[in-house]
Amino acid sequence: MTPRPRRAVCPGSYDPVTSGHLDVIARAAALHDEVVVAVLHNPAKAGTFTVEERIAFVRNGLAALGVTEGVRVEAFGGRLLVDVCRDLEADVVVKGLRGTTDFAYELPMALMNRHLTGIETLFLPGDTKFEHVSSSLVKEVARYGGDVTGLVPDEVRDALVTRLRGDG
Ligand code: PNS
Repeated sequence: MTPRPRRAVCPGSYDPVTSGHLDVIARAAALHDEVVVAVLHNPAKAGTFTVEERIAFVRNGLAALGVTEGVRVEAFGGRLLVDVCRDLEADVVVKGLRGTTDFAYELPMALMNRHLTGIETLFLPGDTKFEHVSSSLVKEVARYGGDVTGLVPDEVRDALVTRLRGDG
């Protein structure tokens, strides 16, 4: 019997994707047959970037890292992660952890998701060089003119400057 592919879901808002996210997705892809990057968004709330922009940033960022095989990026609005995972027939959720604050935030969600459907969450330690990087902090720095080069793909950096500094 051919074993079924191991499919992982990397969920997030990705508004926008950071270099830390991309590192975790690339490492998840190396560990699984398939990875679905699930861009989860609240349809009632406008983000900084549209869902289409977020998807394109993730796709382009992964391509720039040479991660093209076995990864797809899809958007899901207004749904529970566990329901998305069930529809995708995912085996596991993969999340990156930057430290104890992330763990405190992620642990109840992992336990709730397991409570709801039994799906497990695997935590990958984030690369320490991205320990201080989050979508919200990168946006704040960019909004006030700070340089976020290297913390996000260049395309995202340029879009942040345009969107948050008032030209777009
Ligand atoms: O990038 P983020 O904002 O840390 O991602 C959080 C996200 C989107 C993965 C989380 O809020 C989520 O899973 N949302 C979907 C709705 C849901 O399932 N909520 C219950 C979680 S126990």
